[in-house]
Amino acid sequence: MSEIRSVGVVGAGQMGSGIAQLAAVNGLQVWLLDSDSAAVSKAHQSISSRIQSLVSKDLLTKEKGAEAVRNLRFTSSLEDFRSVDIVIEAIVESEEVKKKLFVQLDNIVKDSAILASNTSSISITRIASATRRPSQVIGMHFMNPPPVMKLVEIIRGATTSDNTFNATKSLAERFGKKVICSQDYSGFIVNRILMPMINEAFHALYTGVATKEDIDTGMKLGTNHPMGPLELADHIGLDVCLSIMKVLLNGLGDSKYSPCPLLVQYVDAGRLGRKSGVGVYTYSKI
Ligand code: NAI
Repeated sequence: MSEIRSVGVVGAGQMGSGIAQLAAVNGLQVWLLDSDSAAVSKAHQSISSRIQSLVSKDLLTKEKGAEAVRNLRFTSSLEDFRSVDIVIEAIVESEEVKKKLFVQLDNIVKDSAILASNTSSISITRIASATRRPSQVIGMHFMNPPPVMKLVEIIRGATTSDNTFNATKSLAERFGKKVICSQDYSGFIVNRILMPMINEAFHALYTGVATKEDIDTGMKLGTNHPMGPLELADHIGLDVCLSIMKVLLNGLGDSKYSPCPLLVQYVDAGRLGRKSGVGVYTYSKI
């Protein structure tokens, strides 16, 4: 495929809004879609204010900031994705919901378009096999928040082509990211290692080993992590963490991946972390 110039981003939550911003700032034409109109309005506002803040801190020129805003369009119709070169999906972490969306996208986007998923853990091979273009389906896993974090983990499904891989890698590099490549096994590289650590931190809290503050301080000062695991779980979203643990458990079949009952209970109670105002910690500003 020739150079990627336009992108459709599905899901305007934490990740999708950041990916759309990154693409717009790097000169791509962007469509951002969400099934929830409130999420679209919130993303519109937050992207505009983040671009404004980059301009006021001299991290982006006024002209580039204005161009980025012009590059962005918001929609509630997948039909607007007809001519995009790549779709990056960042919707809820559910295999069933993602597959359904990929089938729809496959019927709408042009034949040459790449379909990428920002999934944290779900099999790219299985998502790909729901479409008629499995060689053009790939995992493009950004870290949170996408405009800030330096890494993109690219996941090759069993049938992902070299062309698809190379085009996706070039795009991530144009965004200024360092790329790592993972084979398609549950959790890939980053979450295969990170999520069991977060789950273990929940177990430490659940069994009364220590307070949440001491667990986080232990990992920050004891192992040089910039954020403690419980604080990081709130940042990621406890629902997302729980979904990933379930994918690890089902995909790798080892009971060591069973989600901690406290994590399950928090999610059941709607304590999703920063995005809902309360998770392990309570936040005054969402
Ligand atoms: P989020 O909950 O902030 O946003 C998801 C958005 O998708 C919501 O606005 C929702 O309305 C929308 N949505 C759900 N189903 C849809 C559909 N069928 N069509 C259109 N829009 C739909 O979730 P977040 O955190 O942005 O995660 C999105 C994806 O990114 C997940 O697959 C997650 O595993 C992955 N991810 C999350 C990271 C994190 O730190 N939160 C990091 C890296 C990847």
